[in-house]
Amino acid sequence: MLNFSFQNTTRIQFGEGQIASLSKQIPIDAKVLVTYGGGSIKSNGVYDQVVAALAKHTWFEFSGIEPNPSYDTLMKAQDIIKENNIDFILAVGGGSVVDGSKFIAAVALYEGEEPWDIVSKQVRITKALPLACVLTLPATGSESNTGAVVTRNGNKLPFSSPLVRPIFAILDPAVTLSLSDRQIGNGAVDAFVHTMEQYLTYSVNAKVQDRFAEGLLLTLIEEGPKALAPETSKDLEVRGNIMWAATMALNGLIGAGVPQDWTTHMIGHELTGTHGIDHARTLSIVLPAVMKIRKEAKRGKLLQYAERVWNVTEGDEDSRIDRAIELTEQFFEKMQVPTRLSHVDLGAGDIDLLVEKLTQHGMVKLGEHSAVTPDISREILVTAL
Ligand code: NZQ
Ligand code: ZN
Repeated sequence: MLNFSFQNTTRIQFGEGQIASLSKQIPIDAKVLVTYGGGSIKSNGVYDQVVAALAKHTWFEFSGIEPNPSYDTLMKAQDIIKENNIDFILAVGGGSVVDGSKFIAAVALYEGEEPWDIVSKQVRITKALPLACVLTLPATGSESNTGAVVTRNGNKLPFSSPLVRPIFAILDPAVTLSLSDRQIGNGAVDAFVHTMEQYLTYSVNAKVQDRFAEGLLLTLIEEGPKALAPETSKDLEVRGNIMWAATMALNGLIGAGVPQDWTTHMIGHELTGTHGIDHARTLSIVLPAVMKIRKEAKRGKLLQYAERVWNVTEGDEDSRIDRAIELTEQFFEKMQVPTRLSHVDLGAGDIDLLVEKLTQHGMVKLGEHSAVTPDISREILVTAL
């Protein structure tokens, strides 16, 4: 196992009715900015629960954070923050709202001239407003990690700082009951691919991380389809297991001390930045192609994945690996997400621009061995056609 340093400071408040605990978890003298998205929290009762819990607090609100949050939208929050001396941010929503709020929290105390530098030049921030969240969509892990992704003019780029890790995250599985099938499928697939990006590399004999990762994959394979099946879709245990799996998939634990890949995500971000495809749907298209093109570099782990996650033990190595890739695609299909570029109406003619964007964004040595050059990204995209 590789050396590592691991600390995750986010307090997880899990279970039904936990939104009420906001009243105690946010300092009573804080000036709170509640941030949210396009209004789903108003129709599913989450907003009312937050308002009730904050009855004794001074709070303001900023809405309209869109999926794949944009720099321009997020910058609009700065006026409210300054006018009202906001000193605490409560993000209520999915990964986009949490990510966007992380950027808002960083910009609020940023002393440089150009806030976009935090993302485009990876300028290290030294301060940020304290942030917490009520998560409404299990998927990204943003609720307890240090990362965020922001988009400006078609450029979708990540930044990361321990200063924007949420202080606490409320995970109430009941708030996920209002999700559409599309968002349920997207969420489970995003969490699945997060796990794969930290697992499907090469072995460093990290038994705990491997088995935790396999446990998360098995949980998502087992519970994901239940959240879409009419007879089990309202089961809070199913929702709770998916929610906790998604948090654990990207809270730093399974990625500590192991090589990581992230090729699928970086190629996926270009598909979203250029074509607006939902984040998880880019991953379900790209991952199977990465597994095929990077088969030699990932051989050992692919065989382990085939055996331990899919129970594939018969046949020669290549046929076991092919079967595991096929079963992964079948799982994605069950979660109702696309697995080919053609499923989202993209073709060979779209690949040049995507490769150009990857190059522009410095994504020229991706993967656990830094071996995924723009040419290999092209091969991956061609394989995904
Ligand atoms: O905006 P509202 O009205 O709230 O509606 C949202 C949005 O339209 C809706 N929604 C959320 N919770 C709901 C709900 N609808 C009904 N009931 C609920 N309980 O779902 C739609 C999608 O929301 P969004 O927040 O965009 O989805 P997700 O959580 O998948 O977040 C995706 C974003 O996170 C980034 C992605 O790139 C993308 O921008 N990621 C962040 C990561 C991180 N911080 O570590 C890692 C990920 O790999 C990912 O890149
Ligand atoms: Zn993701």
